[in-house]
Amino acid sequence: MYPLLFRTVFARMDAERAHHLGFGTLRLAARTPLLRTAVRARLAPELPQLRVHALGLDLPGPFGLAAGFDKNARGVDALSMAGFDFVEIGTVTGQPQPGNPRPRLFRLTEDRALVNRMGFNNDGSTAVAARLAHRRATRPFRPDTVVGVNIGKTKTVPEEEAVEDYVHSTRALAGLADYLVVNVSSPNTPGLRDLQAVERLRPLLSAVRAAADEHTRRRVPLLVKIAPDLAEEDVDQVADLAVALGLDGIIATNTTTSREGLRSHPDQVTACGAGGLSGAPLRQRSLDVLRRLHRRVGDRVTLVGVGGVETADDVWDRVRAGATLVQGYSAFAYQGPQWARRIHRGLAARLAASPYETLAEAVGADNRRTTT
Ligand code: FNR
Repeated sequence: MYPLLFRTVFARMDAERAHHLGFGTLRLAARTPLLRTAVRARLAPELPQLRVHALGLDLPGPFGLAAGFDKNARGVDALSMAGFDFVEIGTVTGQPQPGNPRPRLFRLTEDRALVNRMGFNNDGSTAVAARLAHRRATRPFRPDTVVGVNIGKTKTVPEEEAVEDYVHSTRALAGLADYLVVNVSSPNTPGLRDLQAVERLRPLLSAVRAAADEHTRRRVPLLVKIAPDLAEEDVDQVADLAVALGLDGIIATNTTTSREGLRSHPDQVTACGAGGLSGAPLRQRSLDVLRRLHRRVGDRVTLVGVGGVETADDVWDRVRAGATLVQGYSAFAYQGPQWARRIHRGLAARLAASPYETLAEAVGADNRRTTT
């Protein structure tokens, strides 16, 4: 059903409009109690063997929706209904901003990839915090959905004031986040990725940690999200910094600026213009970065694998490479609402056929095999 809908409707529309149509439909379904129950039963059945404990949180499974899909926290419960075990909202910036001019999201269908230069279009930390607080107060049907909050820099804020901008968002949002992510890896905000250099990252993460601790009674888990385009030594440096600062997790990876190895016609790739590439072509690089991180940090830092994940096999590969949690985005556009269900069923089958009783036992198994 979805492949037909994709070919005949979504693929003929501007990709951003298709996103809003699909997401809007899901949100509508989630607002109708009978439909919501039926959809949830079909798309998000309980599979107790996939339950995960990570970042001090209990999750129904390891597979979440990556940042960027629900930038403004408008559809957390609809996305949980669609089977995602957790939802990372954002990127939210200190101030509201419109993002880049449209069109700014493109499909490379032959590559099962997307190119985006959205530029952190979002309502800003104050409005998003109000939305999350309202959701909490009105007790939705599944108040236990784990919600990560991903924060980034407002475009017009000068680079030397970046820390203050992140701190502003932290003050507004930390108390409403199950975990908090410092995003320093999107390619569409000038200068943002320079914050990955450890001498800039250290004060930024320290300031966010301090602001989060000041504004919440519980200790909010803090993670950093990195780019796949970092040199190997830089990946190691971020890993070492995470351990040194007692960071809770690293999310690897964001989109890439590389256009290598694509099948789509070069003219089509050029026509997309600048932006971050996501989806299938990112799979190997993201997996390599994850594996490298795990060799460096072991189980001292929780790793979240993201980038080119399409199938249950991909999730299983990330887990064995060291990811406790896994996320995806682009394949949702290509595979539709059955995607998470397919992943969960396949993952349960992988686990049953493996020597492990729980997913936790499988985390990092590949690296153990090569080091022992
Ligand atoms: C993203 N991604 C993203 N990441 C982030 O940290 N903040 C953001 O605002 C966004 N926005 C965004 C918009 C769009 C349209 C896409 C496709 C992606 C990156 C995303 O979270 C993820 O890291 C990458 O897309 C890689 O995963 P997939 O898409 O290959 O599964």
